[in-house]
Amino acid sequence: MADKRVLLIVGGGVAAYKALELTRLLRKAGVGVRPILTPAGAQFVTPLSLAALAEDKVYSELFSLTDEAEMGHIQLSRSADLVVVVPSTADLMAKAAHGLAGDLASTTLLATDKPVLMAPAMNVRMWEHPATKRNLATLKADGVAFVGPDEGAMACGEYGPGRMAEPAVIFEAIMGMLRGTTPRPLAGRRAIVTAGPTAEPIDPVRYLTNRSSGKQGYAIAEALAALGCEVTLVSGPTALAAPAGVTRVQVETARDMLAACQAALPADLAVCVAAVADWRPADEGAVKIKKTGDAPPALRLVENPDILATLSAPGPARPRLVVGFAAETNDVEAYAQAKLARKGCDWIVANDVSVDGVMGGDDNTVSIVSATGVERWDKTAKSEVATRLAQRMAEALA
Ligand code: CTP
Repeated sequence: MADKRVLLIVGGGVAAYKALELTRLLRKAGVGVRPILTPAGAQFVTPLSLAALAEDKVYSELFSLTDEAEMGHIQLSRSADLVVVVPSTADLMAKAAHGLAGDLASTTLLATDKPVLMAPAMNVRMWEHPATKRNLATLKADGVAFVGPDEGAMACGEYGPGRMAEPAVIFEAIMGMLRGTTPRPLAGRRAIVTAGPTAEPIDPVRYLTNRSSGKQGYAIAEALAALGCEVTLVSGPTALAAPAGVTRVQVETARDMLAACQAALPADLAVCVAAVADWRPADEGAVKIKKTGDAPPALRLVENPDILATLSAPGPARPRLVVGFAAETNDVEAYAQAKLARKGCDWIVANDVSVDGVMGGDDNTVSIVSATGVERWDKTAKSEVATRLAQRMAEALA
């Protein structure tokens, strides 16, 4: 990466401090960083910090005589292999979407002929505003790549999508784009991936859940995104960070997971990896259930909606390829065939969990069961399963 250069535009938001860590990671990897610090960005990080970490001059002004003499803004916009906007504020996105060029950052974005990666960061209402949604769609159609935003607690005290992706995740997205070797057979396609467990409330402090880590689903979401797919990852509670280039929607219950999947339609591909709780408590207590000294309360359960079966149901909104998962200990392929028919999906990825070391281990042995037969894969690393599956899905959609 020693010959690679990034033009790093640092916008005006609290997340600007993360641009410093990103700069450090890039320099450590040998990538050259030339920073543009907007006047708003300079309210959050100092030019000195950025220059010290980037080991380069910081550019800020469009009408700077010295900067223009040394390196004109057109040259600046072409001097890098990749233009990265961190944080990409609602204002910068709006300017770029409309081709405005009233300052150095927006002029550079308009003048560049290099790929652009934006890491949005803004208040949840701003992110969800129809104007931002329009700008996002325009920028995506213009070929701009995005990483994040993540969902979580924000500096403004609100909660929701809009928090900038972590520097390590942006770093990975940048490295992927700089390598530029990955074929993108799923560009223009949309996928929904469910992952992790669901949590079904008993009362405001208790819930039913399971031990799913979400790792396999997150790996598949990441592998699909790496092939150019626009991925919505609908995730139950996990400890994992959202993968680069993936839109994550965090949910708790099976019913919320289904609603989030339906909101993410239309899609070309749906991959249901989540360990959805089969049942939920029939009545969610509005207040904490207290001990009374009598017999323990009975927990009455009702069945949850089947997300895989719902997405597989025939109709105009059905994704072209719907894939489910099945963990079995015996008669793996026979059970998978039965599940395929019952759920109405196109493939079942059957996972033989009786094989030593599969549970909690790094390797996995899977079979792809479809109407046309069974494809058995040799024991392979779980990350490799995700990559191979994403490639098979791309071939199926081609
Ligand atoms: N699934 C789902 N929604 C549910 C239950 C399961 O989307 N409410 C999906 C899972 O994500 C997975 C597949 O269905 O892709 C697993 O099917 P399921 O019938 O839950 O499997 P098991 O629990 O293993 O079934 P069984 O009762 O046969 O053990």
